[in-house]
Amino acid sequence: MRLLVTGAAGFIGTNFVRQALGSRRERVGRLVAVDVLTYAGNYANLADLDGDPVFRFVKADIADAPAMAALVREERIDTLVNFAAESHVDRSIEDAAPFLRTNVHGTIALLEAVRGLAGFRCFLHVSTDEVYGTIPTGRATEDAPLRPSSPYAASKAAADGFVQAYATTYGVPAAITRCSNNYGPYQFPEKLIPLFVTNAFAGEPLPLYGDGMQVRDWIHVADHCEALWHVLGLGVTDAPVFNVSAHNETPNREVTTAILRLTGRGADLVRHVTDRPGHDRRYALDASRLRATGWTSRRAFADGLAETVAWYRDHRAWWDDVKSGAYRDYYERMYGARLRTATS
Ligand code: NAD
Ligand code: DAU
Repeated sequence: MRLLVTGAAGFIGTNFVRQALGSRRERVGRLVAVDVLTYAGNYANLADLDGDPVFRFVKADIADAPAMAALVREERIDTLVNFAAESHVDRSIEDAAPFLRTNVHGTIALLEAVRGLAGFRCFLHVSTDEVYGTIPTGRATEDAPLRPSSPYAASKAAADGFVQAYATTYGVPAAITRCSNNYGPYQFPEKLIPLFVTNAFAGEPLPLYGDGMQVRDWIHVADHCEALWHVLGLGVTDAPVFNVSAHNETPNREVTTAILRLTGRGADLVRHVTDRPGHDRRYALDASRLRATGWTSRRAFADGLAETVAWYRDHRAWWDDVKSGAYRDYYERMYGARLRTATS
């Protein structure tokens, strides 16, 4: 494969690239990693790969259509995995504009770059369960209606539509995956698990939204990445959708209790803060379409969470660095007033 991986210096992109040049190495002839390095992108995650003859890092914006078109031709790319996105729901509630630009216009620029490209095999678009909105009971199949609640989810639903449209209208070979909440190493500490783990280690409050009984369906990032390799191996091209889930729906309160136990902290750190506007109460995916093709998740949540907490314990320099500078302003904006009026 001659792979282009966008958003390669983010959380899932980093794990995917490291898996590509590790356990999947025999499948990779070339890996071009693209990332514009927003606040969420961290070149340090990939720096040790510099010098690997099949690897190249390019700092570039996926919404820069001429740059993307030139790169896929220069590198004779045959497979593109699109992780690049603005990915945090709370930031999308503050300002939707960057979400529209990267998640929608950026995806269109990439689709244009590969449209009609000789030898191109698959545009694998990495989407999310959030496009289905809240699922009060049961689990969403791929045929469930799209009911995005946040600007982030709306931008991802729009991007999915463009991928399907380019497959139908122009014959761009494509597939779409919709995964549930990921956790694991290298996740930016604005998301629930790395935020609570790093705050717990630092002895700082854990800001739990509302009653903490919202349910998320957690999957280890390595299981998600393996699902993406599996989909690439299916040879599908007409933009089918595959849900990716470990069928592990867990209330946030339960995740919080587990983190406190694993970090050796007490429940006195928990603060019930004002809820996220439009907060989806429950996500749950039916992943039987993908499972019927032979994929399965391998990591139990209890083991994966313990390993993840250990990773953050062992990589304090990584998150001390990430949580400095502009992060402090973000944290004050997002949590300052809420924490001052919180209940424990
Ligand atoms: P992340 O925020 O950690 O990483 C996103 C990366 O994209 C960053 O490195 C950032 O610098 C880069 N990026 C942003 N705008 C860019 C642009 N215009 N051009 C080039 N690079 C740009 O996100 P993540 O959690 O790794 O998520 C990756 C993808 O997976 C996203 O598309 C997200 O919607 C999807 N997803 C995430 C989860 C999850 O639980 N994290 C679950 C399902 C789907
Ligand atoms: O479901 C897949 C999605 O999972 C991905 O598409 C998104 O990119 C990813 O960010 C994630 O979205 P969530 O909004 O579910 O993740 P987050 O970690 O922000 O929140 C998880 C749950 O924890 C949610 O119910 C909100 C709650 N929460 C979150 C934060 C950051 C809190 O209670 N307190 C917090 O401080």
